[in-house]
Amino acid sequence: MNSPHTGQWREHFAGVDLPVPLLGGSTVTGINFDNAASTPPLTRVRDVVNGFSDLYSSVHRGTGYKSRVSTEAYEHARERVSQFLGVDESDQVVIFVKGTTDALNRIAAEEARLDGRQVLVTEMEHHADLLPWRHRSGHVMVGLSDGGHIDLDAIEQALKKGHGKISLVALCGASNVTGFVSPLHEVAELAHRYGARISVDAAQLAPHHRIDVRPADDPGHIDFVSLSGHKMYAPYGAGVLVAPRDFFAGAPEVMGGGAIDIVTWDDTVWTDLPDREEAGSPNVIGAVALGVAIETLLELGFEAMLEDEMALGTRMLEGLTEIPGVGVLGGAEPSTPGGRLALSSFVVEGLHHGLVAAALSHEHGIAVRHGCFCANPYVFHLLHMSKAEVVQVEGEVTAGRRKALPGAVRASLAPYNTEAEVDRFLEAVASIARGRIRASYEQAADGTFAPAGGWPRIPSPLHAIVKH
Ligand SMILES: Cc1ncc(COP(=O)(O)O)c(C=O)c1O
Repeated sequence: MNSPHTGQWREHFAGVDLPVPLLGGSTVTGINFDNAASTPPLTRVRDVVNGFSDLYSSVHRGTGYKSRVSTEAYEHARERVSQFLGVDESDQVVIFVKGTTDALNRIAAEEARLDGRQVLVTEMEHHADLLPWRHRSGHVMVGLSDGGHIDLDAIEQALKKGHGKISLVALCGASNVTGFVSPLHEVAELAHRYGARISVDAAQLAPHHRIDVRPADDPGHIDFVSLSGHKMYAPYGAGVLVAPRDFFAGAPEVMGGGAIDIVTWDDTVWTDLPDREEAGSPNVIGAVALGVAIETLLELGFEAMLEDEMALGTRMLEGLTEIPGVGVLGGAEPSTPGGRLALSSFVVEGLHHGLVAAALSHEHGIAVRHGCFCANPYVFHLLHMSKAEVVQVEGEVTAGRRKALPGAVRASLAPYNTEAEVDRFLEAVASIARGRIRASYEQAADGTFAPAGGWPRIPSPLHAIVKH
């Protein structure tokens, strides 16, 4: 029966039934609701990585059998990514990088060479899609609607005002704080109308939605896509940057072996893409893992999986909004204009976000994330903080009192999660919101809460892995 209640996708994911220790000495099957931070590998990905390790060798220039097999596997992974995103390789190039942060920094480094050009960003962005622009290329930041949504009018006004100066619009495909999905193709049309390109930070979107970059002559096409393998069930250190071929005109940002045709005593002749942008020995296993993850998601039924995940997300969102004292960032509407990921960030009245997260973990075996989720401006916006309040917090943090940072608790789902897990989570949050926190916790200067009597003991054999 195709129901999220039965967890029909669960068997395809590794490590999801792990017993985790609780305070007091008992264990419980852990619930992982921290998928927006990182995901477990698909079992097939894990098994392919293990098997491929026997075949692994350097790629491209080796003549040995294993080298040839590894090169084929690496390039096959590139094709998989390309097909998955609808890339036309005559126009765009797929480059393997470390992850989204690396990809966005690469774009920003190139942008920085375009004198006087600026990048338009929204207040919604993760710091990976904000700081590289701010500190390398220069940026203009546009505000959001009161509810924390992309404001197309504000984007158009900013593009009009900066016409000729703004070369790029940088936008997340989906927010890692509210799960709001951005109207990518509408923003792309606007960007192109005003002579700019669009870069999509797809770290959160790619694992949960099909992305189609569309052909270059489509006004709504997407010029750049950045994503991370570890957020899409291939946590082996590889990510992707898709970029227009003509973007990489000069010397690459990262220089080294493999990126050249010839180096003489005085000259360097850079080689063709993608090798020119992949200097050094690439992460072959990571790239292969990502290719297999994509292949597996498609084979299992990406759309059906995501439908189940969305149903769970709605159940969680609706359940949270019914709990007295709980407020969800971005409101309770599951079907916002562009859609919403199965992810909710929430605050519990009167309780520090770190304390709620600690109690969920140590007393209920539920893994979540808390804080500002590397998206400070967006969280400040969603918490309706005034500029003066933010300045005050900044002063506290600068003085070393990081616990002054406000924040929320985030629960983010994946297809292997189940209704039973969502219900256990909702019960736990409801009980915490009623003040039922059994243990006592101490808050460190950085704001995190630790159990006063020490962490729950990690049982063997895991003990051996973490204590060497
Ligand atoms: C929206 C968004 N962008 C970028 C990143 C950075 O991804 P990575 O740490 O894989 O480079 C994250 C990670 O949480 C994210 O959620």
